[in-house]
Amino acid sequence: MATNRTFTMLKPDAVEKGHIGAILEKITASGFRIVAMKLTQMTKADAEEFYGIHKERPFFGELVEYMTRGPIVAAILEKDNAVEDFRTLIGATNPADAAEGTIRKLYAASIGENAVHGSDSDENAAIEGAFHFAGREMF
Ligand code: RTP
Ligand code: MG
Repeated sequence: MATNRTFTMLKPDAVEKGHIGAILEKITASGFRIVAMKLTQMTKADAEEFYGIHKERPFFGELVEYMTRGPIVAAILEKDNAVEDFRTLIGATNPADAAEGTIRKLYAASIGENAVHGSDSDENAAIEGAFHFAGREMF
């Protein structure tokens, strides 16, 4: 059964370009409630663990370098059908393939630097939220 929470990160490129406010506005205007949120920076060990599923992929080194080069905004979001609806809102991994109006279409530069993360399953949403937040930081 689908749960009602997902996890997101506004990635270092989105923060560097000053897009935090615009992206959060789009997220909340789309009906997501912010359950937890912070500005933080991942260490190399954090990024290697968070994206561990991709460790054999050729882009893994670049991905870790990118995700650790500056602060991110980490957040837990709540909405009916949160995981699927948030993936629809952010658009395809490669912004060239992302639908008009999606966050990646609007704010991502490339497949590697694509502005935003969205959990791909309810199970991963719970794991990723717990990776970044203590229970007392969730509201
Ligand atoms: P995310 O996990 O960040 O929400 O992205 P996603 O599900 O849409 O894509 P995924 O396949 O999980 O890839 C994770 C992140 O790795 C980088 N990537 N680079 N250079 C490349 O070919 C490539 N492919 C993926 C992206 O930052 C992607 O979001
Ligand atoms: Mg993914």
